[in-house]
Amino acid sequence: MNKFYITTPIYYVNDKPHIGHTYTTVAADVLARYHRMIKDATFFATGTDEHGIKIAKKAKAEGKEPQQFADEVAAQFQMAWDEMNISNDGFIRTTDKAHKKAVQNALQYMYDKGDIVKDKYEGLYCVGCEQFKNEKDLIDGKCPDHQTVPEQMSEETYVFKMSKYSDKLLKMIESDELKIRPIERKNEVVSFYKEGLKDVSFSRKNVKWGIPLPWDKSHTAYVWSDAFLNYLTILGWNGSGKKYPEMFPPDVQLMSKDILRVHATIWPAMLLSLDLPVQKSMLFVHGFFLIDNQKMSKSIGNVISPADLIKRYGVDATRYLLMSATPFGHDGNVSWEKFDEKYNADLANGIGNLVARVLTMIEKYFESKVPLKNQASNMKISPELVFKVSSQGQKPWEMRTFINWELGAYKNHMKNERLDKALAEILFLISAMNGYISEYQPFKLIKENKEKTAAVLYNCLESIRIISVMLWPFMPETAEKIWTQLGLNPAKELQKDFNEAIKWGGLDPGAEVKKGEALFPRLEK
Ligand code: MSP
Repeated sequence: MNKFYITTPIYYVNDKPHIGHTYTTVAADVLARYHRMIKDATFFATGTDEHGIKIAKKAKAEGKEPQQFADEVAAQFQMAWDEMNISNDGFIRTTDKAHKKAVQNALQYMYDKGDIVKDKYEGLYCVGCEQFKNEKDLIDGKCPDHQTVPEQMSEETYVFKMSKYSDKLLKMIESDELKIRPIERKNEVVSFYKEGLKDVSFSRKNVKWGIPLPWDKSHTAYVWSDAFLNYLTILGWNGSGKKYPEMFPPDVQLMSKDILRVHATIWPAMLLSLDLPVQKSMLFVHGFFLIDNQKMSKSIGNVISPADLIKRYGVDATRYLLMSATPFGHDGNVSWEKFDEKYNADLANGIGNLVARVLTMIEKYFESKVPLKNQASNMKISPELVFKVSSQGQKPWEMRTFINWELGAYKNHMKNERLDKALAEILFLISAMNGYISEYQPFKLIKENKEKTAAVLYNCLESIRIISVMLWPFMPETAEKIWTQLGLNPAKELQKDFNEAIKWGGLDPGAEVKKGEALFPRLEK
């Protein structure tokens, strides 16, 4: 059995979640669900990053103690993920006692090894990023992500001698031992390394809201050093150890490009310093959701919340709209108009309409029963029932061959984290099915030949069933509703291994179909 450990960044609790965070989290959920379906031992981690100056300042502005403020916002994240049907296996908060203890032990280990030393650090600090910035990262003197001027800082600090691991890490990245994808992101990281990796300030004397260094309590741990260790502590590393070491290192770490550089430098350097494995991990960088070409961010204030989307479209449609909004791995503008258009085209007119029209015909012509008993997978289909994707200019395909081909493409996209492309295969299948119905016109055929109509509609039902298996990681509730409508038991379907579930012939012959309410009612302007 393979293992699959997937992580999202842990989100700052300076404000409630917006659809940028939701995007990463839903993408991780889709991948986790898919890997559970192919029966990989899966662990999906997410959580909240709660220390540091940014949170302390926001709590103060709200007139609250940092812990109370962090408790409230962390709860909002947990609620948002519950509402979004996120299936995370753990939720780590950096204020958890076990996490804090493990961070202290880790930093002590690095200090004892001589990798952390006392020094003085000067630089331009962006509170929004909680990072020192180089002059050349700024645009007109401002941080491009936060549109703020960084503060000049100079203080006594403990420094992590990260540069000592530079050559080793560069080799690991170049050889894909530590994979960074998409490839253009890897190239950026490689050129960053070639400029020479600098040491990094790892403690703050003037920040009280943080984890005290065990050997010098007048300093707190740099918030990123604390945050990175979440990927270990959530597994119980240096503590209860429930999922450590079996799950470590992560197979896929999702994030957007704002935090790639630190993930590709500080994080693996910490692992090397801690004598822990880095190999076979992958950092996968997806794009930014932009509004009017600007990054959506809490600091800028141009945010759409997941609750706004759920109110308009429902949970599953929101998941779909997020995952199909932009090519996964690249930036893209989002807008309400685009979401509305996609909802109507892909969901109301696409999958919703296909399921409704097929089930209506089954009700009308076959007393709501799955027709054509015993459609064995090796049964020879009569030539009229081949699937002519003629509009695509291709030669006729036998339906099962066509679906198998589509399934192959889908699996390949899921393996390579191309979620938008996997969805595009599903949409293609749906529109091909609509084409199939137009071609065979079961609503006319029924007047001439009931047996042939049964075969046509059986093919439609079976294709819908397979489409719903492919949809499940993206839209679990919709897939389960479709199974119920097809007369199947969702709990039983979920136990099946993916390869078993997608085999042609999974319908129960004679089972009663139940056409429910419209899956995606059309949105009116
Ligand atoms: N706390 C750090 C991460 C520490 S991980 C050890 C942090 N938090 S954050 O709240 O700012 O979250 C950043 C992440 O949220 C991004 O990397 C991305 O995954 C997601 N997104 C935030 N805004 C986004 C968009 N506008 N578009 C897409 N994803 C976005 O950084």
